[in-house]
Amino acid sequence: MKRTKISEIWAPELIGTDVCVKGWVRTRRGNKHVQFVALNDGSTIKNIQIVFDMAKFSDEEMKPITTGASLCVIGKLVESQGKGQTAEIQAEKLEIYGLADPETYPLQKKGHTLEFLREKAHLRPRTNTFGAVLRIRHTLAFAIHKFFNERGFFYLNTPLITSSDCEGAGAMFQVTTLDLNNLPKTEDGKIDYTQDFFGKPASLTVSGQLEGELGATALGAIYTFGPTFRAENSNTPRHLSEFWMVEPEVAFNDINDNMELAEDFIKYCINYALENAADDIEFLAKMYDEELIERLKFVVNNDFVRLTYTEGIKILEESGHKFEFPVFWGADLQSEHERFLVEEHFKKPVILTDYPKEIKAFYMKQNEDGKTVRAMDVLFPKIGEIIGGSEREENYEKLETRINELGIPMKDMWWYLDTRRFGTVPHAGFGLGFERLVLFVTGMTNIRDVIPFPRTPNNCEF
Ligand code: 4AD
Ligand code: MG
Repeated sequence: MKRTKISEIWAPELIGTDVCVKGWVRTRRGNKHVQFVALNDGSTIKNIQIVFDMAKFSDEEMKPITTGASLCVIGKLVESQGKGQTAEIQAEKLEIYGLADPETYPLQKKGHTLEFLREKAHLRPRTNTFGAVLRIRHTLAFAIHKFFNERGFFYLNTPLITSSDCEGAGAMFQVTTLDLNNLPKTEDGKIDYTQDFFGKPASLTVSGQLEGELGATALGAIYTFGPTFRAENSNTPRHLSEFWMVEPEVAFNDINDNMELAEDFIKYCINYALENAADDIEFLAKMYDEELIERLKFVVNNDFVRLTYTEGIKILEESGHKFEFPVFWGADLQSEHERFLVEEHFKKPVILTDYPKEIKAFYMKQNEDGKTVRAMDVLFPKIGEIIGGSEREENYEKLETRINELGIPMKDMWWYLDTRRFGTVPHAGFGLGFERLVLFVTGMTNIRDVIPFPRTPNNCEF
């Protein structure tokens, strides 16, 4: 008999028909006359209740049905008497696929802490919380592709292995096949990378942007959506060593177009999740964060505030608020500063622009003042920076001068500079940290809880 997914079992026309469901047991309770099994198959947050008439089933048959065991049940779908559920199944046939020994299956009692579940990341998708988070994550990924496809952007796959450091932060994971215990050396004692796999040093990418710019200056508008890697030793609730980034890049856009795109994009994704993952968002709101849905709707329905870094610094300086990190023009903003602007001062998402060039990457378009660049960061409540982007420096000489000032090896950048040598155009783009968006939409508070298998310093399990 064909299986029906539990997400589809609630269709009113199925009432009164025979159905087949398969899934994992959440709970079993009851007495010697009747027993109830809550079954979940991952397709929805909702369990289906299965009623076993103990005149038809023996205690022996029921005993292996413990939390975590996997089953197939065939029976009649009927309207439910119990409150909260609309339908239940009267079991006719039972097949047990696999047992889950109560002595050793870790997801026993209700209400495990998120910390405990992080240690069980291989099984935590079977909990309500992680089922909801992972379905919302999928819904947001789908919304991202849908948004860009509807606007005529092309999905560009940029390399994960690269020899250039886009953000210039030096926080790259090296990729090598050299024997670390027996490194080949050149005559002057340095590592001989000509013997390495690529014939030169290589790393995992920190961003697909530079190659994204090659795509945008050919296809007009592209986006990337893939994993990026940062070897920074940041043990915070908002940093991962491996995270997914979405990077649109558009020829002929300036910073204002870029801000408009970022705001439309993020609102579209949140709205899409509100409409298409409502059950899961409601579940998480109920469990963890009562203001979640209100906060999501607020962001969708209000304009983001736009102001310059210089104006932002002035507000922070005049606030009289005691910050852990000092505030002065030229300082890189810390999460506490960003969140003060968003949560205390404006009470709205903020787009901060025109940062000092010293604290931003080499590729950003230089302003007339000689001090600032056309950067834009989108700052969100509870999150801080969710998007970072800029208009790009399209002038060959200015870009070359900046590359030299920063001591970036020019010979590695020839291909990037060619976009400015041949048919250069104004263009702009940004990067959205996908897990930070998932954090915001799920209301979770630790980024380790919104990616299936988090990688952080000293943690590479599973
Ligand atoms: O601000 P970032 O470093 O910008 C770039 O990489 C640009 N190349 C993007 C572009 O213009 N195409 O990173 C972009 C976003 C941040 O705003 C943040 O949301 C996220 O990526 N991010 C991280 N997310 C999780 N863990 C980390 N370690 C992150 N570092 C950055
Ligand atoms: Mg940034």
